Amino acid sequence: MCFDNLFQQSVLDEAEELVKKHLKTDVSGHDYFHVKRVVDLAEEIALKEHCDLFIVKLAAWLHDLDDPKLNEENQHYAERFLHQKGLSKESIDHILEIISKMSYTKQMAGHNLTSLEGKVVQDADRLDAIGAIGIARCFAYGGSKKRPIYLGDRDDESSLAHFYQKLIRLPLYLNTLTAKELAKPRMKLMEDFLTEFHNEWGE
Ligand code: NI
Repeated sequence: MCFDNLFQQSVLDEAEELVKKHLKTDVSGHDYFHVKRVVDLAEEIALKEHCDLFIVKLAAWLHDLDDPKLNEENQHYAERFLHQKGLSKESIDHILEIISKMSYTKQMAGHNLTSLEGKVVQDADRLDAIGAIGIARCFAYGGSKKRPIYLGDRDDESSLAHFYQKLIRLPLYLNTLTAKELAKPRMKLMEDFLTEFHNEWGE
């Protein structure tokens, strides 16, 4: 997708470079390639949902940069970037609102996204947490936090328990019909994986 507006395209390109710089060495499943997939999924959804594609793509590029679980020094890379680029206050506030409220934890705490652009980016991030890549990312994240693969209880502190505590529930929290459709094969694969995992475990 090419933006008519060269300025918008250059901002998106610079946001991509910023993500490469800060998340290049991430091993927790939140690396540059995760963010790139979220941008691509968000674009796919946005084109069907008819919303502001520039806001969607820029929020998607910046969405994990300032996450305290990844950015231990608590730097405001996304916020600083948006101000440096001289975007309108309205656009900056909109993007920061999306980034700050899109996580599952925030939603469970009662912070809901109101704009369609926010809902699209949130859906894209959730789709990357399910399916084949979602499985890989779950164990990578667990490993990075020194969590065991499984301890035999679906409600323990293991990576496998995270499927039951969160991942298999994610489709309930998708916003758009487009994302709900995209989620179906991913969920089927994840359910088959869990069945086979428990078979091999001997449960
Ligand atoms: Ni993410």
